Amino acid sequence: MKIAIPRERREHERRVAATPDTVKKFIALGAEVVVETGAGDASSFSDADYEAAGAVIAADAASALQSADIILKIQRPLTAAEGLDEVALMKKGAVLIGHLAALQNREQAADYARAGITAIALELLPRISRAQSMDILSSQSNLAGYKAVLDAAAEYGRALPMMMTAAGTIAPAKCFVMGVGVAGLQAIATARRLGAIVTATDVRAATKEQVESLGAKFVMVKSDETGETAGGYAKEMSEDYKQRQAALVFEHIKKQDIVITTALIPGRTAPILITDEMLAVMKPGSVIVDLAVEAGGNVTQSKLGEIVTTANGVKIVGHHNVPSRLASDASALFAKNHLNFLTPMVNKETGALQLNWEDELVTGTALTRDGSIIHPQLTEGGN
Ligand code: NAI
Repeated sequence: MKIAIPRERREHERRVAATPDTVKKFIALGAEVVVETGAGDASSFSDADYEAAGAVIAADAASALQSADIILKIQRPLTAAEGLDEVALMKKGAVLIGHLAALQNREQAADYARAGITAIALELLPRISRAQSMDILSSQSNLAGYKAVLDAAAEYGRALPMMMTAAGTIAPAKCFVMGVGVAGLQAIATARRLGAIVTATDVRAATKEQVESLGAKFVMVKSDETGETAGGYAKEMSEDYKQRQAALVFEHIKKQDIVITTALIPGRTAPILITDEMLAVMKPGSVIVDLAVEAGGNVTQSKLGEIVTTANGVKIVGHHNVPSRLASDASALFAKNHLNFLTPMVNKETGALQLNWEDELVTGTALTRDGSIIHPQLTEGGN
């Protein structure tokens, strides 16, 4: 079983899909590992580190990929239209695993099928307890939530904790976290550690207890409407709910110094939580970090890849690919997710990969098999 780790080629991507540590573990499972030269440079893992772990270094993508049985990626491969047809470099029958953004790039599944690749979109992994250690959305969101608070602190022209000094007292910053999934919870914990006074909101009532257990105050619309689907995700709320939520946020946000927005609805553009009217009543010098900016944004005026300052002096931070801003840790966790996904499927005697097509971890993530598109969310056009 030969595993290839190509260099990530998409813009703003600094992560790598294996670390020297996971390479060692794959080799212990009986695999050969080929790493494209420079694949780990941006996340501080050198070719020499990979070689010391037992990997072979390939001079380019073509030689890394040509005979690989498994290709581990962070992001989906580039297409011919993007300058390099990475799928064309993979051999027929190879298994490609990564964050393939399958529902946002439905047409690419046809490329995988045509090339005879089994493509596994790890972002579609069912969120069951057995899969927690393989969950790339959780591992990366956790880091993004942490980094969002640091990014906000860096843009904020004041201190976060209360400071009592001989020259006077500095009031603690007020931080509001909107959307309390994995990223939001880590943002709350980080802002608390830095000494801010933290409030948070979500449409899922179940988050109240989690927010309070982290020492923050929960702010929520009183409603009988449930914001949670059977799968534990948020759903789009009614117009009445949205209006009441907006009125509540309008009053609350006037007093905030830092706002972190993380609200996502799977398969849809992100809900708008902060409107122009709300921005207009925020304090000058306050900072918003919009972690949903790549999914359209939770803030009307956020711009992907930019720090926008509004007319009244509110900064809105919209960084690309926030986990990649902590490339070394983000790579280490992503690489562990890959390792944890594959390990149970490696035959201990032969060292070969045996995908278990009865297992929901495989059927829930496999986009293609034997030249056909098979994932129900792609074949039935649903989301
Ligand atoms: P997400 O990234 O899809 O969304 C972030 C948060 O935004 C969610 O808490 C969501 O409820 C909230 N949100 C959506 N629309 C909103 C609105 N209009 N206003 C305010 N908040 C809004 O969520 P994430 O982090 O992926 O977590 C989703 C669920 O999955 C959670 O219940 C989490 O506990 C669960 N989970 C389960 C795992 C497992 O068992 N393997 C692993 C990780 C998460």
